[in-house]
Amino acid sequence: MNRIVLYTVLLLLTGKIAAQDRIPKVEALLEKMTLEEKIGQLNLLTPGGGIATGSVVSENVEKKIKAGQVGGLFGVAGPEKVRQAQEIAIKNSRLKIPLLIGSDIIHGYKTTFPIPLGTSSSWDMDLIQKMAEVAAKEATADGINWNFSPMVDIARDPRWGRISEGAGEDPYLGSAIASAMVRGYQGSDLMDARTMMACVKHLALYGAVEAGRDYNSVDMSKVKMYNQYLPVYKAAIDAGVGSAMTSFNDIDGVPASGNKWLITDLLRKQWGFEGFVVSDYTSINEMTAHGLGNLQDVSALALKAGLDMDMVGEGFLTTLKKSVEEGKVTEEEITTACRRVLTAKHQLGLFNDPYRYSDKSRPAKDILTAENRKLAREAAKRSFVLLKNYNNTLPLQKTSTIALIGPLANNKNNMLGTWAPTGDPQLSVPVLEGFKNVAPKAHVTYAKGANITDNPDLAERANVFGTRVEIDTDPEALLNQALNVASKADVIVAVIGEASEFSGEAASRTNLSLPASQKKLLKVLEKTGKPMAIVLMSGRPLTIEEELDLPASIVQVWHPGIEAGNAIADVIFGDYNPSGKLTATWPRNVGQIPIYHSSKITGRPAPKDNNHQKFKSNYLDVHNDPLLVFGYGLSYTDFAYSNLRLNKTEVSDRESITVSVDVTNTGDFDGEETVQLYLKDVVRSITPPKRQLKGFKKVFLNKGETKTVSLTLTPEHLKFYNSELKFIAEPGDFEVFVGTDSNAEHKAEFTLN
Ligand code: BGC
Repeated sequence: MNRIVLYTVLLLLTGKIAAQDRIPKVEALLEKMTLEEKIGQLNLLTPGGGIATGSVVSENVEKKIKAGQVGGLFGVAGPEKVRQAQEIAIKNSRLKIPLLIGSDIIHGYKTTFPIPLGTSSSWDMDLIQKMAEVAAKEATADGINWNFSPMVDIARDPRWGRISEGAGEDPYLGSAIASAMVRGYQGSDLMDARTMMACVKHLALYGAVEAGRDYNSVDMSKVKMYNQYLPVYKAAIDAGVGSAMTSFNDIDGVPASGNKWLITDLLRKQWGFEGFVVSDYTSINEMTAHGLGNLQDVSALALKAGLDMDMVGEGFLTTLKKSVEEGKVTEEEITTACRRVLTAKHQLGLFNDPYRYSDKSRPAKDILTAENRKLAREAAKRSFVLLKNYNNTLPLQKTSTIALIGPLANNKNNMLGTWAPTGDPQLSVPVLEGFKNVAPKAHVTYAKGANITDNPDLAERANVFGTRVEIDTDPEALLNQALNVASKADVIVAVIGEASEFSGEAASRTNLSLPASQKKLLKVLEKTGKPMAIVLMSGRPLTIEEELDLPASIVQVWHPGIEAGNAIADVIFGDYNPSGKLTATWPRNVGQIPIYHSSKITGRPAPKDNNHQKFKSNYLDVHNDPLLVFGYGLSYTDFAYSNLRLNKTEVSDRESITVSVDVTNTGDFDGEETVQLYLKDVVRSITPPKRQLKGFKKVFLNKGETKTVSLTLTPEHLKFYNSELKFIAEPGDFEVFVGTDSNAEHKAEFTLN
């Protein structure tokens, strides 16, 4: 064997060979395929059964599989059903090519974890990776080999309902989470039948839709894209994600699914992505509505842009052959796309054994195990953010007499949160049950107190996937019952917030306050003068200025997943000291949106004291500061920071800096703190953000304990994309801020020479 052949074999064996490099098995197959069969592999269908997020559901799926017209399915689950589907392909189609079996496993499969915005608030990468591993283990036990996750879109507009599905506003944290999720889903070996191929979505910029309205347009400068919005996708790609999904929005006027700059120039050429690209649900067809031509035109546009697989729309299936005949696309382009899809099947081991995800004995062993549920409880309590602890009401004694009040206090239907189609709400633990489990000696009485909303239209819209909002017709009676229950208690715990489908896909809102019914309930409860803790559920930041002013404690719990009630009780009764930190800024009102910690300084910054000043960048009616800043979150204990130091104050562009700080637990509880590091580039060629997150570390401190926390700033952390889109660091001064949130005030300085 000559050296080149030997080297190629080595690369193949170690998996280091690029996916589009030729795999003999795939090449041999391609040789045998007709044009129609190649096009068939580019077709992804859903026979229905899951949640259809568009107006179409695929028809005649079985017939199409037999005819070699289907490359993959989603919305099919269970080892037997998946086996049947594979059998149709293997036994009846000419070339016996197995199917990709996809699914949306956004936050856990059957063991539903908190919504992703919640888990991001844990700032705990090991935990996030672990959750993805468990999701993969459960989903693959049920036949799934391809996951439409992670959703990594940076979101700085909480009107957008899908902010719930991602990791919030920050590219540094978002990138860390993106790679942890890819590692968790894919493991170190995709051939392992307990791992599945991940799909990073939605490429790109989907979180920046205008006015926070879903599926809307995006128009953004390249500098902003590269510095703020694109790093998260790249992080997933650097972590080895096997596939990517395009978004519904346009970028520079071209919808993502037909955007050659995006799919070919950026993703493949600049970033070196080697996997395959799938459209979003009918997003190729939707380019017609966007105004880019008929189905044949837009399908050709998508293929030529570099898109490989058409989700549900069948534009590829029905028009590409004609486009080849008319010279609008080449067979070569179709072969390239087909090669990528087949390569993914090869990487998953489907050619070796198409039934490797169809082991009947696995679901009972791997799904909803006690261990998985334990992780769900752990994840939930670590995602909660203590927003306020008025008079140290929390934690409660396990022997208290408690009035547990609110439309979400004894509710199973809203615990899982949005995009949990594979989970079963009826398996979730409601808060009332959790209180009984964790504090059996407490005296707990319950009243609903209010409807989630009294607005029937809103209720109807939230009930699309099953009942989330039930409207009792006598709200006054609900209030009276609540008052009655409250009058007999030592303390009130009010569990309120958004129904799970108030956020998520196609669930944008222009009003982010609590529904009027629940605001009224809180006012009535306040009048009792009893100590009160509010457990707040939502899929997004809410505008809760009034509620934050109440003499009450508030714990933000998102939609906590299957173990909701137990995890909430763990925190309310102090078995776990909350440690979550917000990953998206909470505005005072909707008018402040978009609002995020790394915004620009402007030439006329508002005065630091927040007093309005004419001819400064401020509002007449509200000051610029958000209600709750990025990185914010309290604990039952207190942490003090001291002695911030750098190991050098002058660096070259090849040196790293160690930033150290002493953190002391000065309060009465053991607890965890997330130490955050922000960097400000003082002078540079394009306007710098106020500050940017560039490091964090979660530390556990016993009460009274001090630890030195060290974080490293590498040369990469000092770089940004300049106006020529070159990733560089410019010499000059930098300021480092370290502390408990993005307002961190401990400051040190260094100079890059
Ligand atoms: C969503 C995707 C999802 C797809 C398939 C679309 O509407 O935007 O995130 O993966 O549906 O369910």
